[in-house]
Formats: sequence, structure tokens, C-alpha cells
Amino acid sequence: MQRATWGSKLGFILASAGSAVGLGCIWKFPYVTASNGGGAFLLVFLAFAFTLGLALMKLELALGRAGRAGIVGTFKQLGGKHWRWVGIPTVLGCLIIMMFYGVVGGWTIAHIKMTLFGELSTTNTAKLSSAFSEFIKQPVTPIIYHGLFLALTLGVVIGGVQQGIERLSKLLMPLLFILMLLLIVRGVTLPGGWKGVEFMFNPDFSKLTIDGVINAMGLAFFSLSLGMGVMITYGSYIDEHTHIPGTAMWIVGLAVMACLLGGLMVLPPVFAFDMNPGQGPGLTFISMPAVFAHMPGGVLFGTAFFTLLLVAALTSSVSLLEVAVSYFVDELKWSRRMASIVPSVLMLIGGIPASLSFGPWSDVKLFNMTIFDLMDYLTSNIMLPLGGVVTALFGGWVAWKTVEKQLAHGNQLPAFAMQTIRFTVSWVAPVVISVVLLKGL
Ligand code: PHE
Repeated sequence: MQRATWGSKLGFILASAGSAVGLGCIWKFPYVTASNGGGAFLLVFLAFAFTLGLALMKLELALGRAGRAGIVGTFKQLGGKHWRWVGIPTVLGCLIIMMFYGVVGGWTIAHIKMTLFGELSTTNTAKLSSAFSEFIKQPVTPIIYHGLFLALTLGVVIGGVQQGIERLSKLLMPLLFILMLLLIVRGVTLPGGWKGVEFMFNPDFSKLTIDGVINAMGLAFFSLSLGMGVMITYGSYIDEHTHIPGTAMWIVGLAVMACLLGGLMVLPPVFAFDMNPGQGPGLTFISMPAVFAHMPGGVLFGTAFFTLLLVAALTSSVSLLEVAVSYFVDELKWSRRMASIVPSVLMLIGGIPASLSFGPWSDVKLFNMTIFDLMDYLTSNIMLPLGGVVTALFGGWVAWKTVEKQLAHGNQLPAFAMQTIRFTVSWVAPVVISVVLLKGL
């Protein structure tokens, strides 16, 4: 009996962790941490994740369970009709995220194939690096893979097999964690690998810039899936007895752990093989094949790794597409099929310039960023934090009574803890996020 209850709570935690844990932790976290100087950046990231991030996670889950709907339905129900406008920026944000997320999802699929066919079986990192840049430079192939990734996401959403995917990810996510542990052991024991661990955990605050702080905040929002109403939607599925603060802690804990494992997996080989840690989005895709080449059964481990990464990416992309779908179905009364296809087509089209910005359009720059980087910057560092501000203000000032009730379900919170959450969402989150954003601009 008891096991069954625990099992279902674990099921929910793993499902929402499925949205959080994705390319953000394994592809983005390592290269952003590396580009921002390592240890000091990590501390700022952790601070954001466990203060504002955790409070917002509790808030989004609580709002969702109270509203029993996606972000628009929940805001309208708890705040009144005029709150429906929050829907448009969130849908827009999810669309833009998927435009570049899908491109990286496509790289993942391509790497399953390349690893399986031994195309990356070399210990020569210069070769691996040029193989990767040759691949992403192409004008057409990466876009086809991007389309394939979107088609998979669309298939899951239209087929209504989210639950199937979630059940699958319950099995595969722990497998991914185990595989990562194994790969960490291999990477750290490479001669010179330990330097990567030191780089990640030795804070050097002279390397921390205001850009670093913005990036750390954006990365925390991105890797926890916060600020876009995704966790509100997931919260709407939690049963009445589940204790939200505990659940939120689990989700944040698992996502942060996945990020740390991602960093520990990707960075040691970067140092062992003398690669440039600041090289950007290709880091994971170049350093991991080098690790596989240094282990027996590398083809098998490599193929398994990219396959599990694809599943992790899919559980996140499904949650992103779902935000758009539920908006079009609920607000514009579209059919579910149409509401899934239209945003997917937009994501496909928008992904084309993102992909081309690694090749023919690499010179096209705005604010000194490529189109890909700009999409990432705009969503992670601006739109998600702003979404966080709106959600925090809404929860702290408009709907606090309801939120308070939701947080106390299943297990009373000490008054002090409740006040801390309220203070964090009403004041700390809006002020801190605004200050960081203004400083950055
Ligand atoms: N958190 C997801 C990841 O790390 C990405 C994501 C961002 C999903 C925002 C939903 C909303 O891959």
C-alpha cells in the first residue's frame, strides 16, 4: 500500500523533472558555465536556483493546482479576465525557445546516427571538433534533423501519448543518471581530467561579470523550466494530498543535480584533451565522443548516451509545445490537431535561421550575437525572468490566499517558512530580477 502511494508521488516528481531535465542541463549548463569562468558562476547559479528558483517552483505548482488549468486559465480564474494577456508572451516565449531547442534536439538525433555508425570513433579531438563544425555548418542537413525532432515532439503531443512518454522517462531518466555517473568516472580519471572538476568548483570571483550574473539567472530559469507557465500546467495535475513545497524541492534538486552531473561529465574531458572550454554550444557534442573513444564499448555507450539525451530533450520539448497547444485550444477554440500543427510549423520555420547562423549566416549579427545566440539570450535571460516577475507578483499580491492554502495541503508549513515564501515572491524575486535585468541592459 505505502509503496504504491510513494510510487505515484515519485511518478509526478519524475514527470515534472522530465520537463526540467533536458538539453538545458546536459548541453547548455556545461558550456555556459565554462564560458562564464566556472566556479564563481556555478555559485551564483546555485544561489538563484535554490532561492528564487525554488520559491517560484512552489508558486507555479501551487497556482496550477488551484487553477487546474494552464497559465492563462489559471491566471484568469484566480485573478480575473484581464489576466488573459499573460498568454501571449508565454506562447511567444515557448515558440522562440523551441526554434533553437529543436535545432539542438536535431543535433542529438544526428549524433545517435553518427555514433552508431562509428563516424565519431576517434580520439583525435581536432577531428571531432571539425566533424562537428562541418556538420552544423551545412545549410540543409541540420534543418532536416531539426524537423525530425519537431516531428517527434508533435507526434507525442498529437498522439496524446504524453503519459506514455512520461512512463518511459520514468524508466529512462534513472538510466541516464546512471550512465552519466559512469561517464563522469571515465572523464575524471583521464589524465588531466581532474582540472575540469577544479575549474567547476573553485570559485574565482574575478572572473564573474554582470553578464555572468544575468546568464546564471537565465540558466536557472531555463533549466528549471520556470517563467513560462510550464510548471503551472504540471501543477494542475498534482493530486490534492501532495505536499507542494516538498515536491518542488525534489524537482529543483533533481534538475540541479542533473546540471552538476552534466558539468562533471563534459568539463573534465575538455581539460584532459586541452579543448577550448569557451567554445560555446558545441562543447558537449565534441567532448563526449572523445570520452566514448577512450572507453571499451564506446560505440554502445555513445549511442545509448545520445538516445537517452534525446528522450530527455523530448520530455522537455513536449512541455514547451503543450503551452502553445493549450493556449490555442482554450483561448482560440482551435482543434487540438490544428493547435499542435500550427506552432510546430512556426517552430520549424523559425529554426531555419537559428540553424543557418552556424553556417551561411554566421556573420549575421544583432547586438553582437548570432541569431541562435540572440534567441537563446532573449528567451532565457529576458523573457523567462520577466515571466517569473509577473508570476511572482501575481502569486504574492493577487492570489496569495489561494497559494497559501495550496502550500499547506498535506502538511502544515511553519509560519516562518510560509512568510519567507511570501516575502520572496512578493518582494525579493521582483526586485532582484528587475535589478539584474536593468544592470544588464
Ligand atoms: N528545462 C528544459 C531543459 O533544461 C528547457 C525548458 C525551458 C523547458 C523552459 C520548458 C520551459 O532542457
